[in-house]
Amino acid sequence: MKKYIILLLMTAALTSCNHHQEKTYWDYMGNFDMYYSKAYESYSPNPVFKDGKTLQKPVAGTVSREVLPYPFKDKFADKIKAGKLLQNPFQPTKENLERGKIKYDVYCAVCHGKSGKGDGHLTKLEKNGKKLYPAIPANLTAGFIQAKPDGEIYHVITMGSAIMGAHASQIKPDDRWKIVLYIKNNFKVK
Ligand code: HEC
Repeated sequence: MKKYIILLLMTAALTSCNHHQEKTYWDYMGNFDMYYSKAYESYSPNPVFKDGKTLQKPVAGTVSREVLPYPFKDKFADKIKAGKLLQNPFQPTKENLERGKIKYDVYCAVCHGKSGKGDGHLTKLEKNGKKLYPAIPANLTAGFIQAKPDGEIYHVITMGSAIMGAHASQIKPDDRWKIVLYIKNNFKVK
């Protein structure tokens, strides 16, 4: 009897781990509908929807989990409002300032300069005696910029300002706040 049991166990062990076996034999819940999904593949045609596609666009107003809706518009009045209502959720710790510097050097220094004085690389480029970037980036060390509430600078990064473009698609909210901390702490006129 013992012999048979051992033989049975060995056969089970050898057959159950056969990776090349493509066909499955018995399903524990084989008779239930949900066991084998009859779902459409994402890119397959679909008779249920009007446009005949399975993959549908997200419904209007869908927000990605990582994105916080930003209630302020690209208007002067909204910049002031953002300055009043938004608060920097971060403290100027060593790590946050370091992170702010990394992002500032990547996204802002090309115009505002590593020193913040508005003398970035782009402002120095010329072709046939003409400036390639004729706009004048703000001097971030200036008193009136340093006096701005954090939320106002956050708003400028998010929505842009006059000729300066919005950076919301490149820089995540947390990093925008850390850039603000870096500007306020590093370029502060002492
Ligand atoms: C392509 C060039 C360019 C880049 C890149 C750029 N800026 Fe600017 N920025 C400007 C110009 C030009 C102005 C002046 C426009 C204006 O009058 O508001 C300006 C203005 C500003 C102001 C002043 C706005 C105000 O309310 O007066 C702040 C603050 C500022 N930028 C911060 C940043 C930060 C932070 C970054 C990086 C995330 C950045 N900028 C990236 C060109 C740039």
